[in-house]
Amino acid sequence: MRIAIPRERRAHELRVAATPDTVKKYKGLGFDVVVESGAGLGSALTDDAFAAAGAEIAPDAATALRGADIVLKVQRPLLAGEGQIDELALLKRGAVLVSGLNPYQAPESVTAYAAAGIDAFAMEFMPRITRAQSMDILSSQSNLAGYRAVIEAAAEFGRAFPMMMTAAGTVPPARALIMGAGVAGLQAIATARRLGAMVSATDVRPATKEQVESLGATFVAVMDEEFQQAQTAGGYAKEMSAEYKAKQAALIAETIRKQDIVITTALIPGRKAPVLVSDEMLRSMKQGAVLVDLAVEQGGNVEGSVPGEVVEKYGVKIVGRINMPSRIAVDASALYAKNLLNFLTPFVAKDSPGTLAFNGEDEVVKGTALTRGGAVVHSAFAPKEAPAAPVAAAAPPAPPVPAASPVPGEPPATPTV
Ligand code: NAI
Repeated sequence: MRIAIPRERRAHELRVAATPDTVKKYKGLGFDVVVESGAGLGSALTDDAFAAAGAEIAPDAATALRGADIVLKVQRPLLAGEGQIDELALLKRGAVLVSGLNPYQAPESVTAYAAAGIDAFAMEFMPRITRAQSMDILSSQSNLAGYRAVIEAAAEFGRAFPMMMTAAGTVPPARALIMGAGVAGLQAIATARRLGAMVSATDVRPATKEQVESLGATFVAVMDEEFQQAQTAGGYAKEMSAEYKAKQAALIAETIRKQDIVITTALIPGRKAPVLVSDEMLRSMKQGAVLVDLAVEQGGNVEGSVPGEVVEKYGVKIVGRINMPSRIAVDASALYAKNLLNFLTPFVAKDSPGTLAFNGEDEVVKGTALTRGGAVVHSAFAPKEAPAAPVAAAAPPAPPVPAASPVPGEPPATPTV
């Protein structure tokens, strides 16, 4: 089978879905690999490096994708009208597409994959089970985003992070608050600590308290009954009640006034990000303080954050960088490419190298498969079967609805994975 890696064409995207290292592995597994010329340049990977690893270099997307059985991407393919080319139209019927597909933000694309006969796998839906950790693009990319968020904050901050005692006087350490202590938040805590800041953190999941403290930061949260229950079986946060949000906001308002740096990372899958920093809180903050909103593309945790911009309000900077993982593209590509390799490797047919045989019963396949054989198969997007209506009550069948509501508001220019 032939694996194709086209150049990413969406704005703000410097990553690539394979590296020379993973190309070598695919070749070793018996696949042919073709890489579009220039696909790796944003991640410091030249055509020569891919060619030396055994890839064929194609001059353009059409050539790279022609006849490809498996297509590896970082961001979902451009549809007609979304960019200079219709990438989806270049994929052959029956091709396997493995990528971050952002289906909640672009539900129309799911129908388009089915109509084009593409077997699409949304890598952000990887189940959070131990076996799948090495395939989890959200983890690998969030980790780097958390690191990079602190670096962005440091670059915008007019002061130092660590305490410095000099002949000319003492520079006090910066105080940093990390809101949301998931994968990105924990890395942000570690990075801010390494830079010498005094760090505190907050989250709604009780499991995070110990993790935050083990990194040497102080945990700040309202720890009531609701807090003890605030985690789904999948390890994600639940939407909190209005009462909890009010109590938490009061505590945060008190804490935030003293901060120099605030990094927000709070997300709830399939929903708009919760607003954690209100305009009133911004008003209370120190002059020169910097906030980095990692949730800016999902609606934002900070009131007034703008995707792609650094906004200044009341003497405070709000950094709303788009696609943070792409701002550390070399490492992000290397880890992303490994995630994809780790996902595909177990499905290489034992008796027929260079071919894939997905096991439809496998949890990682069930969790990530969006479309198959021309149909939408993912439970969150597949049309629901209408219950047999009683003859007398001729109710219309329920329309197909996603299990979780799509993110309301404007779709982001370039969704982050
Ligand atoms: P995420 O990106 O969905 O959310 C980031 C953080 O924001 C979470 O910790 C969440 O609890 C927090 N949050 C949500 N609403 C909030 C609010 N109102 N106030 C404060 N914080 C709020 O989550 P992420 O980082 O992708 O993963 C969450 C957890 O899942 C991880 O910490 C880990 O324990 C687990 N996990 C398990 C994996 C596996 O077993 N394969 C892989 C990756 C993560």
